[in-house]
Amino acid sequence: MLLSTTFALAGLLVLEASASVRIRKTGRPPTGYEVDFRYVNATAKRVLIGGGIQPFTDQFHATGTSYRFNGRYDPHEYQPGDFYVSNPSPQLPAEPAYKWPYEMKKVSDDGVWTYTAPLPSGIYSFAYLVDCNYAPNCTIDTGHLVIDPDLPPFMNVPGDQVASSFQVPFDARFQASPELNTNFDYALDAPKKHRGRVFTVNYTSPGSLHPAPDIHDFSIYLPAEYGKVPGKKYPLLYLSHGAGGNGADWENLGRMSHIMDNLIREGHIPPTVVVTPSFYNLDPSLGPRFIYGNRSNPVPVPPAAKVRENFERYLFPWVESHYDVCQNASCRAFAGLSMGGVLTYEMYVNATEQFEYYGLFSPATNPPYIDAAAVREKPALLSKGLMVAYGLYDFVFPQARDLQTALDAVGLRYINRVTPFGSHYWNTWQDELWWFGVKVLWKPLPFDVRTGR
Ligand SMILES: *[C@@H]1O[C@H](CO)[C@@H](O)[C@H](O)[C@H]1NC(C)=O
Ligand SMILES: *[C@@H]1O[C@H](CO)[C@@H](O)[C@H](O)[C@H]1NC(C)=O
Ligand SMILES: *[C@@H]1O[C@H](CO)[C@@H](O)[C@H](O)[C@H]1NC(C)=O
Ligand SMILES: *[C@@H]1O[C@H](CO)[C@@H](O)[C@H](O)[C@H]1NC(C)=O
Ligand SMILES: *[C@@H]1O[C@H](CO)[C@@H](O)[C@H](O)[C@H]1NC(C)=O
Ligand SMILES: *[C@@H]1O[C@H](CO)[C@@H](O)[C@H](O)[C@H]1NC(C)=O
Repeated sequence: MLLSTTFALAGLLVLEASASVRIRKTGRPPTGYEVDFRYVNATAKRVLIGGGIQPFTDQFHATGTSYRFNGRYDPHEYQPGDFYVSNPSPQLPAEPAYKWPYEMKKVSDDGVWTYTAPLPSGIYSFAYLVDCNYAPNCTIDTGHLVIDPDLPPFMNVPGDQVASSFQVPFDARFQASPELNTNFDYALDAPKKHRGRVFTVNYTSPGSLHPAPDIHDFSIYLPAEYGKVPGKKYPLLYLSHGAGGNGADWENLGRMSHIMDNLIREGHIPPTVVVTPSFYNLDPSLGPRFIYGNRSNPVPVPPAAKVRENFERYLFPWVESHYDVCQNASCRAFAGLSMGGVLTYEMYVNATEQFEYYGLFSPATNPPYIDAAAVREKPALLSKGLMVAYGLYDFVFPQARDLQTALDAVGLRYINRVTPFGSHYWNTWQDELWWFGVKVLWKPLPFDVRTGR
């Protein structure tokens, strides 16, 4: 089924007024853009905007070690070079003294609530928190977390996402900073003729618990050219979510399709198909059914080796027999964020013959890593195209560095990206996907010091 709403939606946001979220070019400080939120609820007593939107900080008042001491600025105080980092849960601190910046005002007796803020370039995800002051306690089932009805999330299955998102453009007059580049325009809509499409797909996966018995789901990005050149087979990238996520995350929270459109349009990569699978609910032996966004339903992350085996058995053959995708490792890549980075490492070590390129985005990996003996046994490990990327303020920074140390020790040349504004969050992962395309995907192997220059 085609979920074309994502595309209509993004166009709508920038070009036309929407009842819910409107992005306006203002041509004035502090950012050159303002975003208007509007929500109608006659019975609500207090409405906060949460669900992923964050306060701001700058690099002089941010540490990777304690989020409590970050700037936590209101966007109305924005200065060039400011960026947001995610505060790990709770996103609304319980400290009574801390004022959350995103609070709506009731502007009419029939319950119209509004909030306007200047926001800089970037991706924002949000939901309305109704009569609920502490994010971890605000849930959909109790009516305290409300997804914007006019800006529904991209989802594979209804209920499988709990926030909507939008992308604000860059305006160099107000946002250019001598300290830091925070221009995310590579994730805006490409011109129409360059836009690929994203579909939700169900595939046969015996043992799957969701969305139906023995049926599992993924999202697929087909580039604009797909289907127009008879017989053409496309390079294939698998892109994984992280812990607590699912296959729709990359599109809903990261605008993956728009980043791919722009990578292709600007000639960084040839048209490429992207599959974003889900690693939960594959098999009852890997854990109970995982319900997205349900905080009282914590499900352990299934072991990467088991996920690999399951994907090898059911997902990979299914994709290759249903789409015009390439049939050999040289044009196949696997990447993933956080626990998806752990899965990517597993693919690198144990599905070495399946893929030529690997993107370890904010990988939450742990030793043991490959060593000289592993490389002697499987020399192909040294000829693969790897990227290790993580944020400067990312809580997996130490783990990603340890992984790099291990790769250095065996003499592997990988591409490295430390996102300078990055915490463990979607602005970082957008950045990592962008640079993965620009510097890594389908580039000549093995990598050397001139790769991507
Ligand atoms: C996938 O399967 C689920 C559960 O049967 C169903 O609700 C959904 O509509 C299906 N989606 C597609 C795209 O077929
Ligand atoms: C309105 O707010 C109430 C809480 O006062 C909440 O239970 C309900 O779900 C909200 N309704 C809508 C339509 O957002
Ligand atoms: C969150 O909910 C729990 C359980 O109902 C409650 O004990 C706690 O006080 C709540 N926290 C806040 C900050 O409201
Ligand atoms: C959330 O998970 C709990 C515990 O597994 C379950 O009892 C509850 O029904 C779930 N809520 C929803 C909305 O699925
Ligand atoms: C791999 O597949 C691509 C696309 O199908 C093809 O162009 C290429 O020649 C193949 N390479 C090898 C080594 O088979
Ligand atoms: C790879 O496979 C081996 C042997 O099955 C297993 O012990 C290991 O945990 C797997 N993953 C990694 C990353 O080594």
